[in-house]
Amino acid sequence: MKVLVTGGVGYIGSHTCCELLNNGYDVVVVDNLSNSQRNVVKKIEKITGKKVIFYKGDVCDKNFLIKVFNEHKIDAVIHFAGYKAVGESVKKPLMYYHNNLISTISLLEIMSDFGCKKLVFSSSATVYGNPKKLPITEDFPLHTTNPYGTTKLMIESILKDLYVSDNEWSIAILRYFNPIGAHSSGLIGENPNGIPNNLMPYIVKVANKELKELSIFGSDYNTKDGTGVRDYIHVIDLAKGHIKAIQKVINDNGIDAYNLGTGKGYSVLEIVNTFEKVNNVKIPYKIVDRRAGDIDACYASTVKAKEMLNWSAEFEIEDMCRDAYNYVLKNKIK
Ligand code: WQD
Repeated sequence: MKVLVTGGVGYIGSHTCCELLNNGYDVVVVDNLSNSQRNVVKKIEKITGKKVIFYKGDVCDKNFLIKVFNEHKIDAVIHFAGYKAVGESVKKPLMYYHNNLISTISLLEIMSDFGCKKLVFSSSATVYGNPKKLPITEDFPLHTTNPYGTTKLMIESILKDLYVSDNEWSIAILRYFNPIGAHSSGLIGENPNGIPNNLMPYIVKVANKELKELSIFGSDYNTKDGTGVRDYIHVIDLAKGHIKAIQKVINDNGIDAYNLGTGKGYSVLEIVNTFEKVNNVKIPYKIVDRRAGDIDACYASTVKAKEMLNWSAEFEIEDMCRDAYNYVLKNKIK
């Protein structure tokens, strides 16, 4: 079975490629390297001992996709490629709508032309907006508050309309909660360019003395200690969820959405304290104002993913904190 992975040398894509190869799939990666490094291909090959076929190119470019599909019989696609920074999407909405929507529509058109109608799509819990109650189940109302999240919601609608038009499609929509951590080898992990927007990469840079202190955005939320609560999930657990999803789209037809979370919520202060304990480091921090658009709390119901994909997360928050820092220590990222 040959799987095309768009954005396959990115953070979640690279970990998923390792799991695909470990499960006997052949992997073809397309990536424009706008938010990833080419040397990750070699690291995936080192981790798995398997070859990766890599094409540098843009998923918006249909001629590029035609070349790939002409050279390989693709059985299924996992589509990660897309811009994903919430703050940047507010400043540059057209860039986000163009890139995330056009790349997806181009991909779907070429897949259809080549008779490949099995897709796993990388969506996000951000499509739930500010949930009225918790845990979040997949039938909750969908509502977005930023252009990035809206591209994900729009693509989910496109996929649902596509399935109505052609029942031969088999589509799994995966709504990620907060992916953190890294492969235990320390060879691949999360290495955002510049000042990280997300909590864990920021904490890691503070631990590595690249940044002075963590700013905790608000301590007056309606949560256990006043700081924001999120459902953090180890990136390896997330990658394994994609294996279950690709098996499902290969074996069935239809379209459905699944939460990929742990079902547990941790506050910012709990993450900081766990990180310090597990890694024996100090994370200086200060409490500052809330960040615009942040919600109090968010964590997943994991029932549907367990029942329909036979998948559930296994790593604990301590594993996530340890592996996230191990990646930086092993790569002495500066
Ligand atoms: C987590 C918590 C912050 C940074 C985002 C996207 C979402 C998904 C995951 C793509 C919050 C607090 C953070 C910091 C802080 N990405 N925080 N100081 O906002 O839950 O989700 O990433 O799909 O779409 O919205 O993740 O890591 O930014 O924030 O206090 O420097 O940490 O307020 O409570 P978020 P995050």
